[in-house]
Amino acid sequence: MFYRTILSGCGAYLPERIVTNKELSKTLETSDEWIQQRTGICERRIADNNELTSNLAVNAARNALENSGVSVSEIDLIVLATATPDKTFPATATKVQADLGIFHGAAFDIQAVCTGFIYALNVADNFIKLGQARNALVIGAETFSRILDWKDRRTCVLFGDGAGAVVLSAAEKGDKRGILSTHIRSDGRHQDLLHVDGGPSSTMTVGYLRMEGREVFKHAVTNMSAILLEALAENKLEANDIDWLVPHQANKRILDSTAKKIGLPAEKVVLTVDRHANTSAASIPLALSEAAGDGRIKQNDLVVLEAMGGGFTWGAAVIRW
Ligand code: ACO
Repeated sequence: MFYRTILSGCGAYLPERIVTNKELSKTLETSDEWIQQRTGICERRIADNNELTSNLAVNAARNALENSGVSVSEIDLIVLATATPDKTFPATATKVQADLGIFHGAAFDIQAVCTGFIYALNVADNFIKLGQARNALVIGAETFSRILDWKDRRTCVLFGDGAGAVVLSAAEKGDKRGILSTHIRSDGRHQDLLHVDGGPSSTMTVGYLRMEGREVFKHAVTNMSAILLEALAENKLEANDIDWLVPHQANKRILDSTAKKIGLPAEKVVLTVDRHANTSAASIPLALSEAAGDGRIKQNDLVVLEAMGGGFTWGAAVIRW
């Protein structure tokens, strides 16, 4: 028996503390002008010392549940995308599950860095399609501020903390809305271009994010436009059919170049990178939550998601809202 998956609701949570480019330039050799020109970023949110990834995730999940009308007791799957888990193990998703008071079903983490939300959506969609779950929470939550080298101006200005979530549900028979397809890819040959130096199985404890920015930029535009066109073709759709593109928010220049490459007007791209910076797996559900919440995304709109991240990993999803 195959079911279709619909998005019943979106939610978001951002830490209170706003750090502007100007504030960064007080301790770092950088400027508001450089950061805005190269990335489109004006400010980012930074989690409090006592705020962990699971805390951000729980707040976003509660918000998504409220907006969906699905009750906590109906959730039978939690898939949490994060590259900044609370602990090496257990999965941060199990902490979120316990904090939400859910003691049934399954909860686990997905690690695909900035593509994590699309990977998590793919996994949860397949669970629902196969009838193995009825209502799933898919969350992207990150505290990248903890893995940044705050002395490295080439990386630390680019990222922020936050969480976003969606509730997925099995559609009623005949409902034409929902996830039309998801597409995920990876190519591990490029892992050194964007990585964190250290980890539980290596000789050092968790280190800092390291990135070859120019190389990542080139791969990002090529891979994201290719997967986007592939996703549209599979659904016999064209760029013209897209109502809203909700991309991973890494850099405004990457978003502009990708949209241009597939011939999509900039007005159809949901943009949050200016206020959130790059929140990795959280950026797509944060942007979705904003655009659905303020009424930009309407029922039956064609919404396309896309992302690329460390690994490299990349992916896309096509949704009839
Ligand atoms: N402030 C001021 N100057 C800086 C800063 C800064 N924060 N960072 C770097 N510079 C300097 C460099 O030192 C360099 O100076 P030099 O010429 O004297 O050596 C100069 O600016 C140019 O540096 P580049 O790295 O060549 O700058 P570039 O135009 O490539 O922009 C950037 C850098 C913004 C990182 C860009 O390469 C980029 O956006 N790459 C994509 C990376 C990304 O978004 N990754 C996110 C994760 S992957 C994903 O989510 C898709």
